[in-house]
Amino acid sequence: MKGTELVKSRRSIKEWEPLGVSRETITALLDAAVHAPNHHLSQPWRFTVVMGDAKERLAAARGRAKASGFQDPTSAEAHSAGERARAEMAGAGAVVVVTCVPVADPIRAREDLCSTAAAVQNFCIAACGEGLGTFWSTGPLAGSPELRPMLEIPEDDILVAIIMLGYPASVPPVRRRKPAAEVTRWVER
Ligand SMILES: Cc1cc2nc3c(=O)[nH]c(=O)nc-3n(C[C@H](O)[C@H](O)[C@H](O)COP(=O)(O)O)c2cc1C
Repeated sequence: MKGTELVKSRRSIKEWEPLGVSRETITALLDAAVHAPNHHLSQPWRFTVVMGDAKERLAAARGRAKASGFQDPTSAEAHSAGERARAEMAGAGAVVVVTCVPVADPIRAREDLCSTAAAVQNFCIAACGEGLGTFWSTGPLAGSPELRPMLEIPEDDILVAIIMLGYPASVPPVRRRKPAAEVTRWVER
């Protein structure tokens, strides 16, 4: 598949085949992720791979975080939204939490954040090329007080992505973008 076709074929996947993803496969995807450009070879990204029982615990925390965002977190509506959020993550083969190590210099901090986002996209595109699906999320779980202690992620690290990874059961249609031509200027002289 051509590079442009591969990039355009990536979708955010929310329905998964009940299959695990091997450590070897995830390791290969992470090795692709760290080929992202990064200024001064700062390599600011950190990855936490969550599988097995730990993934179930994380999915349960995602469900609680979702429900807690409702005006009445004990309502039936909050409960069913929480359950949907839990099941979506529990159904994935693995979850990879991507964080960026903070630095004091504001220019470097911004560049490091860009590099970490590029690493996330490398991961997602590489996964797509291997027939896997990804879902880059943040959402209520990203701000949950449960997340960092559960995964021993340092308080200061910047959370960039919670990637669900697995074999897609369905691939949603393309969410249409503004054509690039509408947001592009060509400067020639
Ligand atoms: C930083 C970031 C955070 C995101 N967080 C969420 C999220 O919490 N919930 C969600 O449904 N989608 C989330 N998304 C995915 C976008 O909604 C998705 O990429 C967009 O709808 C386009 O769909 P596509 O990825 O299938 O092209 C996030 C994407 C990014 C880049």
